[in-house]
Amino acid sequence: MQTTSRTFTLIKPNAVAAGATGKILDRLIADGFRIRALKMDFLSRNRAARFYTVHRGKPFFEDLVRFMTSGAVVAAVLERDGERAVEALRTLVGATDPARAAAGTIRREFGESVTRNAIHASDSPENAREEWSRFFTPDEITEIDYTPEV
Ligand code: CMP
Repeated sequence: MQTTSRTFTLIKPNAVAAGATGKILDRLIADGFRIRALKMDFLSRNRAARFYTVHRGKPFFEDLVRFMTSGAVVAAVLERDGERAVEALRTLVGATDPARAAAGTIRREFGESVTRNAIHASDSPENAREEWSRFFTPDEITEIDYTPEV
């Protein structure tokens, strides 16, 4: 059986407000990701602070929480063939600072600043699971593949 792996992404308020959600999802799919779960959501201050709890106390934390609660976000569980979903997504997303992100990356195209950088990508399989569980219950994650015969 083919090995697959999963990761988590969160399209941030600046990209959602700019109407870039569809374009970003297209980029993810074109790169080989399958969407296993998808949801538009609004983060409360508490949820945003908990999501970014590792950054609590850092100088940019308050700005980050304010920004992440400024509009809708779109959360997705992504899957691809092979074992490197986390790494593949981080490569496609690009460096944290859009100005330093490589040409062709999502942050280079849709990011505006380090905080308003359009998209979050989990940094490990463990964190991906932890992060998607803040948005999806297990039964909201699609496990069934399309079978034309059914
Ligand atoms: P993200 O991948 O969502 O993870 C943490 C976020 O903090 C990061 O993207 C940036 O949007 C934001 N951030 C703001 N300032 C900084 C900074 N100086 N270093 C790292 N991340 C920052």
